[in-house]
Amino acid sequence: MIEPGQLQVSHQYTKASGNKIYIETYGCQMNFNDSEVVVAIMQKEGFAVTKDITEADLILVNTCSIRDNAEQRVLGRLRELRAIKRKKPALKVGVIGCMAERMKEQLLEKEKAVDLIAGPDAYRDLPVLVAKTGTGMRAANVILSHEETYADINPVRLDENHVTAFISIMRGCENFCAYCVVPYTRGGERSRDPETIVNEARNLFDAGYREVTLLGQNVNSYLWKSSTGANITFPKLIELVALVDPKLRVRFATSHPKDLSDDLLRTMARYKNICRNIHLPAQSGSNNILQAMKRGYTREWYLQRIAAIKHYMPECTISTDLIAGFCGETEQDHQQTLSLMREVGYDSAFMFKYSQRPGTYAADNLTDDVPEDVKSRRLTEIIDLQNTLSAENKKKDIGKTFEVLVEAVSKKSKNELYGRTSQNSVVVFPKMNFNPGDYVMVEITGCTQATLKGKVVE
Ligand code: SAH
Ligand code: SF4
Ligand code: F3S
Repeated sequence: MIEPGQLQVSHQYTKASGNKIYIETYGCQMNFNDSEVVVAIMQKEGFAVTKDITEADLILVNTCSIRDNAEQRVLGRLRELRAIKRKKPALKVGVIGCMAERMKEQLLEKEKAVDLIAGPDAYRDLPVLVAKTGTGMRAANVILSHEETYADINPVRLDENHVTAFISIMRGCENFCAYCVVPYTRGGERSRDPETIVNEARNLFDAGYREVTLLGQNVNSYLWKSSTGANITFPKLIELVALVDPKLRVRFATSHPKDLSDDLLRTMARYKNICRNIHLPAQSGSNNILQAMKRGYTREWYLQRIAAIKHYMPECTISTDLIAGFCGETEQDHQQTLSLMREVGYDSAFMFKYSQRPGTYAADNLTDDVPEDVKSRRLTEIIDLQNTLSAENKKKDIGKTFEVLVEAVSKKSKNELYGRTSQNSVVVFPKMNFNPGDYVMVEITGCTQATLKGKVVE
């Protein structure tokens, strides 16, 4: 916790050095939501957010370490910020998030632009760290916590549409998949007090929001032990959020296949406002690779989970994450991934080349032996297949009518709106008198590669 005395220091800084923060976010939805928490913490200390970087007194870069190219992007950005700082010496730059946690003081030593670093569990300390930089010092806090969930902090929403928002329900991860840096950058798994989650959802609904996405690295292992002894599991939590209002859509990410329960699927099926889309990262279709990745399930188990989803909710779409070229992946293993994709018929996928991350089990114990050109070729094959599958699935939607939650005016035409179906497909249709936040029945009349097109059904 922050001591009252410490708070005062940052107020002094605020007066002396200007108080405008510019924040930019890389990485996952959790990082995006963390930036909203950071803004809430800083606003309470008298800082104001600006969308104009040239006005900023403090630039915070919320970073991601998931793959090497994610880090390289940030390092490139820090070089640009160094150039800006030369022209404006009072400007301070802070690196927060997963890269700050992974690289620790090394970042301060190597990157001349950086004045402060703060890991994902150290955001309450940011005002104090900023105050330290005001005296010319460089400041760091990368201590990970077993308890921090920022449960009492009301995130300041940075989304553009004021219709959809993220709510973090847990932090950290303890699965230690062999390739993954997240358990090291975000620490151990901990769940947030459900009452604060439901209150946040209700407040968002009252403020006009119509969709919340519950976030965690493995939402299915959410567990809150209440003082009365009753346990709140993820199915119970999502039910409580769904009950806030039938007009509030509820999504969640990410589900780990090993923990996706029938109990959750049954709960989803009971509530129309829990969206019919499950993101279920497979990573690979080969049992040898799944084992090497330490994923804790087999291809057969995964397919049986897919069958369970279809059993309870035939209309549910399924998306996934896939990694090409993990350590030891043979051509046959790769073919197994392609065949899994065909068998499931994914609606969409995030697809990556394996990137070795320092400190992970794979980096220390396995050989990154798939040549770069082979990784690239396999990734291209995966992407090409997914494009085909996505197009096939879109075509099947033509002629069907969906309830679309309007998110905003289309970027391409101000006479059109775009929104999403419960299945998470993007739909573009004529604006008429509708507005963001409205639910509209739309019949699908056609599609392009990324979106469905439709007409309003009266
Ligand atoms: N908690 C989620 C994943 C979070 S990371 C889950 O377990 O499903 C998002 C995705 O990044 C992962 O699903 C994986 O596909 C990818 N990823 C993680 N580490 C990676 C690495 N070292 N190289 C390539 N892709 C990686
Ligand atoms: Fe990483 Fe695995 Fe945890 Fe997902 S479940 S964040 S892939 S360690
Ligand atoms: Fe998210 Fe990247 Fe960290 S994916 S958890 S910001 S490493």
